[in-house]
Amino acid sequence: MVNSILAPDSQALEEERKAEPAIHHAPHGFSDRFALGFTKLLRFSADTFFAKRYGHRAIVLETVAAVPGMVGATIQHLTCLRRMKDDDGWIRTLMEEAENERMHLMTFIEVAKPTYFERLVIQLAQGIFYIIFFLLYLVSSRTAHRLVGYFEEEAVISYTLYLKEIDEGRSPNVPAPAIAIHYWKLPADATLRDVVLVVRADEAHHRDVNHGFASSLGGTPVERSAASPYPPHAAEIRMGA
Ligand SMILES: [Fe+2]
Ligand SMILES: [Fe+2]
Repeated sequence: MVNSILAPDSQALEEERKAEPAIHHAPHGFSDRFALGFTKLLRFSADTFFAKRYGHRAIVLETVAAVPGMVGATIQHLTCLRRMKDDDGWIRTLMEEAENERMHLMTFIEVAKPTYFERLVIQLAQGIFYIIFFLLYLVSSRTAHRLVGYFEEEAVISYTLYLKEIDEGRSPNVPAPAIAIHYWKLPADATLRDVVLVVRADEAHHRDVNHGFASSLGGTPVERSAASPYPPHAAEIRMGA
């Protein structure tokens, strides 16, 4: 009974998965299956904890989503120094991903305010997830990037469901926060719906880039230009700069 109240609309979720079959990277081998299994476990936990509170969900999950890019950039940087080799643009791409995810967080914090319990979850989750992801990246950078690719698949689905909530009037379509208007160069009268659309496009781009990195590390190079288009962002993330 409790589940039926807390669980998100699983039918809507299934429909969304079916509607976008092309976005799913079919797992090959243990590394991919491990990444997918871990993602499903976290998805289940997030669905149970947040249900349809998409604003709160975005805040807590974006604090986690901004971690992998910085971990990947750090380890790639150190690897390139040790091996005295070129990074092929990976480090800046990963740092840009981390910054972009932090901007998602700075945007949604203007839309919803985390509860004290959620702030505690954020503290704990960061400590645990940073260490686990760092170790995973050291052991298998391919699995780590595949994991992020699967996380981003789920992020695209979640933001699609958030759009549905807005479109069907269950979440108010408030004016876009000023920071979002600046960062995504949106019109002055942009709304939350416009923001969720560009955030979702960012996540789709991260999804394709990370699946591409994982495939490259697995010996199947993927053209980065094949990734979903990345929305334009302000060069200076500080407003007025
Ligand atoms: Fe994000
Ligand atoms: Fe993302």
